[in-house]
Amino acid sequence: MSKTNVDDLRGVLFCCHGSSCTRAGARTVEKALRLHTREAGLKNQIRFVRTACTGLCKSAPIVIASVNPPPEEAQAGAASTCGARWQLKVRAEDAPALIDSHFGTGTNETEAKAVKKKKAKK
Ligand code: FES
Repeated sequence: MSKTNVDDLRGVLFCCHGSSCTRAGARTVEKALRLHTREAGLKNQIRFVRTACTGLCKSAPIVIASVNPPPEEAQAGAASTCGARWQLKVRAEDAPALIDSHFGTGTNETEAKAVKKKKAKK
């Protein structure tokens, strides 16, 4: 059973793992996205879901960012900055910009610092 609190979710990253996306590096992309999610302190605020082919194989690998509104905007009924955003031909090096642009930084700074410190030691 997942420990994710739905109310704390900033969103979901749907990572296509169909055959074209897998050949184009989907596993490496997802790994980079997960790493940057931890570095940004968003580990428990973004869910990762692997999908089958989404039908855009020529633009593989595909990542779909589904962004939830911040709680204060959700209460106000604002949804203009939310929804599904398709990312085409995603590369591992795109992960930081993708996470930052869609989800910003997280609230778990302790975890983010620990991940960065561990990464610096390598
Ligand atoms: S395999 Fe990913 S879009 Fe077809």
